[in-house]
Amino acid sequence: MSQQIQGPAGHYVDGEWIEGGGERFESVDPATGESLGEFYRGTPAEVERAVTAATEAYPVWRDLSYVDRAEHLWEVFHELRDRHAELGEIVTRECGKEISEGKADVTEAWHMVEWAAGNARHPHGDVVPSEIASKDSYMRRSPRGVVGCITPWNFPVAIPFWHMAVALVEGNTVVWKPAEQTPWCGQVVAEMLDDAGVPPGVFNMVQGFGEAGNAIVEDDRVDTVLFTGSAEVGHSIADKLGGEPGREVALEMGGKNAIVITEHADLDVAVHSAVMSAFKTTGQRCVSAERLIVHEAVYDEFKRRFVDLAEDVAVGDPLDESTFMGPVVDESQVEKFHEYNRLAREEGVDVLVDRAELDEGEIPDGSADGYWVGPFVYETEYDPEMRCLKEEVFGPHVALIPYSGAIERAVEIHNDVPYGLAGAIVSENYRQLNYYRDHGEVGLAYANLPCIGAEVQLPFGGVKKSGKGAPSAREVIEAVTERTAWTLNNSKDIEMAQGLSADITTEE
Ligand code: UN1
Repeated sequence: MSQQIQGPAGHYVDGEWIEGGGERFESVDPATGESLGEFYRGTPAEVERAVTAATEAYPVWRDLSYVDRAEHLWEVFHELRDRHAELGEIVTRECGKEISEGKADVTEAWHMVEWAAGNARHPHGDVVPSEIASKDSYMRRSPRGVVGCITPWNFPVAIPFWHMAVALVEGNTVVWKPAEQTPWCGQVVAEMLDDAGVPPGVFNMVQGFGEAGNAIVEDDRVDTVLFTGSAEVGHSIADKLGGEPGREVALEMGGKNAIVITEHADLDVAVHSAVMSAFKTTGQRCVSAERLIVHEAVYDEFKRRFVDLAEDVAVGDPLDESTFMGPVVDESQVEKFHEYNRLAREEGVDVLVDRAELDEGEIPDGSADGYWVGPFVYETEYDPEMRCLKEEVFGPHVALIPYSGAIERAVEIHNDVPYGLAGAIVSENYRQLNYYRDHGEVGLAYANLPCIGAEVQLPFGGVKKSGKGAPSAREVIEAVTERTAWTLNNSKDIEMAQGLSADITTEE
């Protein structure tokens, strides 16, 4: 294969590449199980250095104009475009998603940078009227300070830029820990920010595992923590920081997403949307659908067509453009997937497609040590007690759930999960679409589309167990800035709103 990282590669702190404590870890290609290179494993000591650098760089960075800060991000935008093919392939090799997805990850990253840097030249805030003619009021935003970013492996380039692009343009400095499964992507992103001439300390990257992420969370000098990843880790961060005055957190943490297919669905659209939502990224998007809630009137035909495709969908070498599904990211994901498939059987479902263990012939030559799985599809009557219908698997594990009656029943089943990230409805009936729009408990809702593939200018975040704030795209501004309501009096007299007297009366 083409490239290999010349390791071991280090952390990027205060404009320098450092090795830190010296312990190393490997990046593994999930398609082959082979090592892609070695990286230094960050400890709390490197995080401490990075946060110190970010704290010291902050006052100077904050005092630049928006436009000057954005100029550095435009350099990164060009780097992402120039290195598209190279970095797209690295994404695919480190996290196993097929090559069009690897490249789309990089494209999504530059879209985010474009949005954040372009926003620097757009109007900011609101002019607010006052009751008093001589007063001008308006909103000002200021950066919060040091932003800690902890990002997942499934979008190893796009999600870091969701966090960092806006944070930097708004005037914050950054300490970033990439996912331990995708350190090579972390390395290339850090090279890009270095090449873009971002001043030392403004952007810092520490490779490593939970102990490094935890050190970011524990450090009081980190004003905002942005986290995208598992609900378990996200909730522990929220528990730690929730009561801390002055410390902000925005979290996005997955879902148990569903598509509702009503009796008025166009079944071509329904089947296409369902296959994309369930199997793209091998089911490893936070927005992937693991539940298909289908009206009984169209159930049999939908099932036949969905099952046919699930039996056939191309699993294989993620670098091959004809592949639809690559491997899952690592052994723990393989185990979790099999565990939930077992659980579904124990809970009494009827299995319709079981490609969980692929046939030898389906696994690419020389890749037997990769983390290969295929679609697992089952049907079951709805039962709110079934764990396989409530818990996120993060793999190609899909339930078909028939329903009868009106749209209200479908949406009731749809909402009966602890999560609320993404969802979709397929229907040609506008009343059903509107009912779903108004009652579906999700942050991202789609009609006649897959529930994956959000664009960066949308706020990306969930409700219920799926999130708190939106550590991404447009809405991340709220997490990385403070707002000041600024009022200026243009008169020499002080006049108060609400009819409040401004007279100062004295004893005399
Ligand atoms: C994720 O699922 O972890 O909406 C992120 C999408 C992508 C981002 C997904 N833009 O599918």
